[in-house]
This record gives sequence, structure tokens and C-alpha cells, in this order.
Amino acid sequence: MFVVLINRYFNLQIHENVKLLLKKIQIYGDSELRNRKRRKKNIFLLFKSMKALIIISACIFFYAYFVEPNWIEVRALELKLPHLATELSGYKIVQISDIHIDKKMKIKYLNYLFQLVNQQKPDLIALTGDYVTHGYEKFIPNLVTLSQLNPKDKTVAVLGNHDYSSKNHTQAIKQILQETNILNLENAVYSLKRGDAMLHIAGVDDVWKRKDRLDLVLQQLPEAGAAILLAHEPDFADVSAATGRFDLQLSGHSHGGQICLPFFKPPILPILGSKYYKGLYHVGKMIQYTNRGIGFTHLHLRFNSRPEITVFTLVA
Ligand SMILES: [Fe+2]
Repeated sequence: MFVVLINRYFNLQIHENVKLLLKKIQIYGDSELRNRKRRKKNIFLLFKSMKALIIISACIFFYAYFVEPNWIEVRALELKLPHLATELSGYKIVQISDIHIDKKMKIKYLNYLFQLVNQQKPDLIALTGDYVTHGYEKFIPNLVTLSQLNPKDKTVAVLGNHDYSSKNHTQAIKQILQETNILNLENAVYSLKRGDAMLHIAGVDDVWKRKDRLDLVLQQLPEAGAAILLAHEPDFADVSAATGRFDLQLSGHSHGGQICLPFFKPPILPILGSKYYKGLYHVGKMIQYTNRGIGFTHLHLRFNSRPEITVFTLVA
């Protein structure tokens, strides 16, 4: 009797253990199936996100390479200059900068650019340097297209750091400026008159290459009349504003950052172009304006920094 009871007890135990084991196997099987499904879903989501990321990146690249570099903004600004005589109120200056001729900048595009400048009907055109990118000397002859610029008074210019790539490069650019009737303000002053009133356009030669001689400019600058300074590198504004003689400085050099993420300072900015890198600033009593330029350096891309023609109407 005792033996029978023990036997039955153990049979029962064995039966319960088998049931428990089978249940565990089933639970394991279910969770394995669920995990497999979850893994499959995660892989699918990852693939979908990667696909979206690739499509968005391709669209941004397409825009930055093909669209924005050719999408010139004509920006009109009215600037009140404290020393401007009323006779000169309404005087229109059109600025372009950093044309950066290279193998991608075709003559057709240059013609389009200069005609767009002429359409603004400028009294004076100001060019603020970097005409041909370093290393692309063979394209310097394309600069003869500058000859079609047609302001009422004068086209004036200063050179930029790229225009000092080599002695030959600089000489060739200076020669073309001369041939196309453009006045290179190498530490010099050009004064224009309306009756007895005068407006002075001064220029410092390239600051980065240490060609600037502001002392010579100040020596030539008459005491009376509003004065505008052309300086390729915008951060020179700290020096020029300290003289108290200039109402306005026009610069380029930074390309506005060239590639800019919204709400952030551009990740790459050049020496002497990182403080006043884009648009309008007030430095002491002087106005500083930094044009975003036309061309490129390094990457042939522009994002959130369209090429720019600036049209200033001066107000007394
Ligand atoms: Fe430049």
C-alpha cells in the first residue's frame, strides 16, 4: 500500500513537472515570436528612416549645388549717412563682391550678372575684391566682361586676398581693371561732386595681405563731405570706424559663410571675416555692410547664403 502511494505521488510530480516544462517552452516560443516581429519592425523603420535621410540629403545637395548658387538676390537698402549733403541724397551705389571666376563660372553667367547690375541703374558701382580664385589664373581674361558695367559716374574697386595669389595674377587683374575703365582704389580716394557738395569713395588695398595703408587714405581725404570706405575684409571695420572719418564701409570676403545652418553662426568663416560676416552692422558711428558675394571658394555649394547684389540708396 505504501509503495503504491509513493509511486502515485512521484507519477503526479513527474506529470506536473512535464506540464510546467511544456508551458515554459510555449511561453518562450511566444516571446521569441514577439521578439522576432519587433526586430523585423525595427529593421523596417531603420530602413525607412535611412531612405528618408538619403532623399532629404540628395534634395539639399541638389539645391545647394544647382539652385542657390545661381539664384542671385538683389537686395535694396536705404542708408542714412550723417555727413551726406542733401544734393547727394538719393545717390545709388550698387555693390558686388567676390566674383571668384573659376572653371565653373561661365562667361554667359558673368554677362547675366553684369546686366543685372546695370538694370539697377547705379550712379556708382563698387567692387570689393576677389575677382578670380587662387589657382584659376587662366580664367583671368574672362574678366574683360566687366567692361559692360555702365554706371552714371564710375566703377571703383579694391582687390581681395585671392587677387594676391601671385605677382602675375595681381598684375593681370590690375591691368584688366585699367583696360575696362575701372578705378582701382589702392589706398586712394575718388571724390565726386554735385554742385559744391562732395562724396568721397576711398579704398584700402587688401588687409589680409598687409597691403592696406589707411594712413595714406586719410591723408588724401578732404575734411568735408561724407566718406565711404571699400575694404575687402569686413573685420577691418574696427580699425576704420575708430578713425571717426567714415560713414560707411563696404566689404565682402566672407561669402556670408557660404554654407549656413539656420539659427547658427556659419561653421567656416575666413580670417578677418568672422565678426562682421553678413549684412548690416553698426560699428561705433560707422555703418558696416558685408555683401555675401557671387562665387565660391573650396566647395561649389551655397546654402542659406544666396549670391548677392546690393543696391544702396544714400539718404542725407
Ligand atoms: Fe572671397
